[in-house]
Parts: sequence; C-alpha cells; structure tokens
Amino acid sequence: MFLTKEEERMLNGEHGEAAQKAMEILVALGKIYGAEKMIPVSSVQVAGVSYKTMGDAGLEFIEEFACMGAKVKVPTFINPAGMDKMRWKEMGVPEEFAQKQIRLMNAYESMGITPTYTCAPYHIGIRPKLGEHVAWSESNAVSFANSVLGARTNREGGPSALAAAITGRTPEYGLHLDENRIANVLVKVKTDVSTRFMYGALGALVGKMVKGKIPAFEGLENANDITMKYLGAAMAASGSVALYYIKDATPEWKLKEDYETIEVDNKMIKETIENMNTTEDTEIITIGCPHASLEEIEEVANLIKEGGMKKVWVFTARKIYEKALEKGYVKTIENKGGKVFADTCMVVAPLYEMGIRRTGVNSGKAAKYLPSFNKQKIKYDNIKKLLSE
Ligand code: F3S
Repeated sequence: MFLTKEEERMLNGEHGEAAQKAMEILVALGKIYGAEKMIPVSSVQVAGVSYKTMGDAGLEFIEEFACMGAKVKVPTFINPAGMDKMRWKEMGVPEEFAQKQIRLMNAYESMGITPTYTCAPYHIGIRPKLGEHVAWSESNAVSFANSVLGARTNREGGPSALAAAITGRTPEYGLHLDENRIANVLVKVKTDVSTRFMYGALGALVGKMVKGKIPAFEGLENANDITMKYLGAAMAASGSVALYYIKDATPEWKLKEDYETIEVDNKMIKETIENMNTTEDTEIITIGCPHASLEEIEEVANLIKEGGMKKVWVFTARKIYEKALEKGYVKTIENKGGKVFADTCMVVAPLYEMGIRRTGVNSGKAAKYLPSFNKQKIKYDNIKKLLSE
C-alpha cells in the first residue's frame, strides 16, 4: 500500500504514539480491503459513544487513546451517548452507568472532538458536498451522506473512525471508489409511499430484500431530507445498505447495465408493518430515530398541544434542542407530560434498565433495534396516531 512521507512518519511514531496506533489500524484495514493508498477526509463522525454498547472494555480503549495524548486532525463529530449529559437524572439513568458514561464523553472530548452527540449531523449544518470524502460511522448518517448528499464514505467502525480523525486519512476502498457506487437493484415502488412512516416501512422491507446491495428506487414521491432519513436508517438497520438512489431526488443516479428488478406493492408493505408490531399498548412513545429535526419537534408540539397528557420522549441534537427551547416547543411538550432530551436516543440509552418495556415508535430503525438492544415490545405507527391514542 502506498503511503506518503507524512503517513510513513505517522506510522513510524514521529507524530506520537496515538497517531502511530491510528495509522497501524488504517494500514491493517487498507490491506484487508486491498486499498492502494490513503485519502484525506474532510470530516469524521465517530460512533461507539454509549457506555451501554461500549462497556468497560470500550471505555478502557478510548481512555487509553486519550491518555496517549490523541488529538483529532480534522473536524470530528460524535454519535449519541447513553444519556442526556445535563438531564440524565430526570431520565432515570442509573448512577453507575452515568459515571462511566461521563468518563467516556470526557475522554472523547479531551481529544478535541466536537460534542455534537448526534446521529443526524446533517440537521445541524454538517453536510459534506457531492464527491467529498469523509469517514463517518453511524449507519443512518453514512447512508444520508452517501445517498442524499452524494459524499463518499464507508461505514466506519468505532476504532477506524477514531483513527481517521487522528490522522485525517482513510484507506481508499469501498464506497470511496466510483466503480463501487453503482446500483445493482432497481426497486419499482408500486404503491403510494409519501409519509415518513411509509418510507421507514419501505426501508425495513427493501433492506431485508437487498441485503448489502445498492438499490435504486423508482416511483417514490415526497423524497426530502426527512423522509429519506427514515428510509435510509431503516434500510441500513435491516440490510446494511450504505448507499441508495432515488430517481429525480438524490444528486446521483447510477444503475448497472445488468441490474435486477424488484417490485414493492402495498400488500408487502402492510405485512412488513404488521410484523414490526408486537404490542398494542405502550408505556412510552419515543420520537427521534434518527435524531429529530426542529420541524419534527415542532410537529410533536403541535400534535400534543390539544390532547391530554402524553408520555412522549423526543431525542435530538443539543443544538436543535436549544432552538426548540427558544421557540417554546420544549415547554409545550413538557407541559403535556413529554420530555425532549439531547445527546442520546431510545436505543443507546438503557431503557430496559430504566424499567421500560413497551415503546411506540415511528421509526423503522428503532423498531428493528429496540427489541434486541433494549428488550422492548414495539408499536410501529405514524406520529399522529401514536400521539392521538
Ligand atoms: Fe440515531 Fe439512535 Fe436511531 S443513534 S439512528 S437515534 S438508534
């Protein structure tokens, strides 16, 4: 694998122990995937932040890096943690969990990582341009960057993203190469899919059908940042899809000559929705997977305003939380028994340990992960229905 003089210096330890270890990780990865060289990345999004998913071994690994004096070289953002840094007591997060979570957050922040704690950096203005190379980790963020923005990223693991942040490089393979960004499945959507809820269900279904391939959709209406976020997140969760195209919506559309075709009809989507539902009654409604935009929080505030008390938790980025606070949406929601939390989400927070068992969601990704990560029974429905019952 070709390395520049500077990359060689990093590998030889001339830039310190942390950069050396980081370069070792990247070179090993590059060799596995047959990369010919490293490429610079303009930003990094690091996952592996919740103590729930990292555990003591992960905490030790990150603290070790921080102790070596690791510092990020390019703008680096971070995924949700296991709790709201300011309001974890209100969430009911156990004390021991919180203490370890704070250590993990502090270790990351000591490296110069911007404490965004969000899986939707694109909602807070972090939007790499068409063709820009980045190294992002969280699967919905990766899907959004590749598909909706046309940036280039593989789905990085926690260590490889951190290594990219410390060196400013990533090995050139996978979705960084144009030849690997060509769709091989044409998905003809033969029914009306225009709401977020339907986009999420479609994503859950198509992800399962195409498993890791690159789908290109025809027949979708109302494709925008929010609907595509729900589609991409669900497809990434059910089928590890990191890139997709939508005719006349995504900035790129590339289809192989010998593509396969699948059709999706209303019956298939209905069945998918039925299978996602495992309970009729819920203890809590959780919104914000991926993290809610300001418009989505406004919608919750408007929907909740007229009805009775509702235990709804909305998860978002701190920057958006602050805007929602300013606009009065947080107050409206919290006056009706809801909460708006930042820095975390329903999947990476320890919901089960907090005594919660049955959750209502409008997200295909949350419906997929909550049963396994947090032992939840799920009611999957659209936001209006969830909030009106
Ligand atoms: Fe984000 Fe948590 Fe969903 S990290 S995509 S809100 S599982």
